[in-house]
Amino acid sequence: MSGDTSAVCLPDRYTRNVVETRDPHAELVADFRAGMLEAPRSLPPKYFYDDRGSQLFDAICDTPEYYPTRLERELLEANVEAIARRAGAATLVELGSGTSRKTETLLAAMLRAHAAVHYVANDVCEEVLDESAQRLLERFPRLTVDALCGDYTAALAALAAVDREPATPHLYAFLGSSLGNFEDAEAIAVLRAIRSAMHAQDRLLLGLDRVKPVAALERAYNDAAGVTAAFNLNLLAVLNRELGANFDPAQFEHRAPFVSEGSRIEMHLVARAPQVVEVSEPAVTLEIGAGEVIRTEISRKFDDAAIDLLLGGAGLRREQEWSAGESWYSLLLLRPDTD
Ligand code: SAH
Ligand code: AVI
Repeated sequence: MSGDTSAVCLPDRYTRNVVETRDPHAELVADFRAGMLEAPRSLPPKYFYDDRGSQLFDAICDTPEYYPTRLERELLEANVEAIARRAGAATLVELGSGTSRKTETLLAAMLRAHAAVHYVANDVCEEVLDESAQRLLERFPRLTVDALCGDYTAALAALAAVDREPATPHLYAFLGSSLGNFEDAEAIAVLRAIRSAMHAQDRLLLGLDRVKPVAALERAYNDAAGVTAAFNLNLLAVLNRELGANFDPAQFEHRAPFVSEGSRIEMHLVARAPQVVEVSEPAVTLEIGAGEVIRTEISRKFDDAAIDLLLGGAGLRREQEWSAGESWYSLLLLRPDTD
């Protein structure tokens, strides 16, 4: 990890570390090559989150249709003392922390139990890390923050390499059902990487979106104000800027159908007409047919069997579980399986 706090003026309780193991630009070029040169086209969802993408995701969380944030916040507020007590940790490590808005509840509870609390926040978006840390440090004078800017995997590798005081438990958090953005193999790999960084006394708080009526799911990803559509289309602006491409967002339509095979919402950008897109790096010309789909995200909705498969594959065990609504959303407190 290399400390870098030069870009912003923040209190001395903040450090920002760049933890990328690969050059992010080279990785985007490689992912574009792998997913976009021929149909069916797709890209990993982490490229949504430039500064504007992070702001749009935050706005999605405030739409009346996007229930996951609301339910997860309710679950956290109702159970935060039990979570903090069971974890017994004065260090919180969060993956894909975004604005850390829900996390504030958890940090406040940890600060009620400990004289000082350390928050390690990981995200691919540097701006969201800086802005969130600034807000948290102003609110909590006994908090210190380390930002790990980079991919989950790079952050977890950096954490696993740190020589830690074994007697101080850490609470890991992976909220917002971000695990649902991965297929089984990748989801197990991310959970395994968390498991590898964990010591026996550490806990993982995992937020997962559950199966529910299709109409509610499709409403959540097709909000009436069009915020999710703007979030999806912003990916094309990212590609134009980062790869020197000339995608015309007006030529694509946002769609987010529920796909029952795989129990997931899929985010699609659908070409409104045949079009030719020029890209500088990689130097390619894409010929995209009318109605052709670019899949930009999967967002899985879990039943118990799917969760058990992932936990079993990763060596994690349920310690406690809280669910909201009619089991529309769950928070799981997990421990390393030592058997
Ligand atoms: N945890 C927050 C934010 C969820 S949005 C919540 O529950 O509301 C997903 C967040 O993860 C974004 O802030 C995004 O920038 C970050 N992210 C997406 N893919 C990532 C990856 N591969 N590695 C690290 N962060 C990632
Ligand atoms: C971050 N991730 C879990 C969100 C989800 O629901 O899959 C991203 C999102 N995409 C559209 N709306 C929200």
